[in-house]
Amino acid sequence: MTQIARQDERARYHRLGCAAVIGCVALCASALTPARAQSADDQVQKYGCAACHAVDKKVVGPSFKDVAAKYRNQAGAQKQLVAKVKNGGSGVWGAVPMPPNPTVPDADLNAIVKWILAQK
Ligand code: HEC
Repeated sequence: MTQIARQDERARYHRLGCAAVIGCVALCASALTPARAQSADDQVQKYGCAACHAVDKKVVGPSFKDVAAKYRNQAGAQKQLVAKVKNGGSGVWGAVPMPPNPTVPDADLNAIVKWILAQK
């Protein structure tokens, strides 16, 4: 293969690659709309909750399964827990306090708490 032909080849693959990426982004975006692009699982990582919480074991804070079980039949739990995570506090699961998390946007926090309460 000549030098020119090889460069030509590379350019062709590059264009193909770009088209594939653009096509995938478009496809993924449409597949995820109107669902949130990020799962609650990712958000728990992103906002640092995962440093103290796991789904099925106690870390610093209670496991999300334990939280879900505790509030399963409690009306208003969603709202109450959103406020608790935002403001922090202690005394429900022990003496160790949860620090406030005021920077998590309401929409994300609501989605995270909904996801926590759905754990079984
Ligand atoms: C520094 C550790 C830490 C971080 C970070 C943390 N938590 Fe907690 N979390 C705790 C502790 C400790 C408790 C138990 C508080 C208590 O006993 O009242 C708790 C309790 C909870 C509860 C149950 C509250 C209740 O009153 O029953 C939920 C829900 C919760 N956390 C969600 C979150 C979410 C969502 C995030 C991330 C935005 C987060 N936590 C970040 C330590 C943490």
